[in-house]
Amino acid sequence: MATWSNLNLQDSASPLMEQLAFFHDHTLLIIIMITMLVGYLMATLFSNKFTNRLLLEGQTIEIIWTILPAITLVFIALPSLRLLYLLDEISDPSITMKSIGHQWYWSYEYSDFFNVEFDSYMTPYHEMPKNGFRLLDVDNRIVLPMLSQIRILVTATDVLHSWTVPSLGVKIDATPGRLNQTSFFMNRPGLFYGQCSEICGANHSFMPITIESIPSNMFINWIKNMNN
Ligand code: CUA
Repeated sequence: MATWSNLNLQDSASPLMEQLAFFHDHTLLIIIMITMLVGYLMATLFSNKFTNRLLLEGQTIEIIWTILPAITLVFIALPSLRLLYLLDEISDPSITMKSIGHQWYWSYEYSDFFNVEFDSYMTPYHEMPKNGFRLLDVDNRIVLPMLSQIRILVTATDVLHSWTVPSLGVKIDATPGRLNQTSFFMNRPGLFYGQCSEICGANHSFMPITIESIPSNMFINWIKNMNN
C-alpha cells in the first residue's frame, strides 16, 4: 500500500500491474529525453548568432522534425495498446466475485458458492486496532486466493462508483444498471488496499477496499466457514 511521501507507483501484486509499471518507466524515460532536448534547444536561443536570419524554408529539417516525433509516438502507442488489450483479457478465471458499490460502502457476493455475501464498511478511527490503517481498513475484508485468475463483476445500486486497487492494476467503474467485468491474478499473499475513485458523494473518501490474498487451501477453509 501507499505509505508516507511515496510519490511512485505502489509495488505491484499482479503481473499486469508489473507491466503497467514497466510501461510507466518506459514512457517517463521518453518524456525525460524530450524535455532535455527541448530544454537544451531553448537554452541555446539565449546565445543566438543570427546565422540563419534570412532563412525562409528548409525542407530537410521540416521532414526530420515531423518524422522523428511521429516515430517517438509509435514507440509509446504500441506498448500502450498491447497493455490495453491485455488488461481486458479475462483468461479463463477460476473464481468470480461480484462487488456492488453503494453510498457509501461496498458489498460483495461470491456467486460460485452458496449464499456468500456481505457488506464491507470502513473501520472508523476510534475502532481502529493499533496496527490498522486509517481510512483504508474495513470491517469485512474480501478474501481471495493468490495464484489464481479471479474475475470481478462490478456494478452499483445508486450512483457511479469505481472499484480501484492500485497494486493489482485494477480500476473499473461501478455503474447502476450495468455489469462490468475485469480480472486479475495475485502473485503474492498480503493485504491489498484500494479506494473508490469515482466522485460519488459526501463520503466518497470513506468506502475503501481491502483484499486479503491467501493460499488457495486457506481460502477454501474460509469459504467453508462462511457457508456455516
Ligand atoms: Cu464510491 Cu466514490
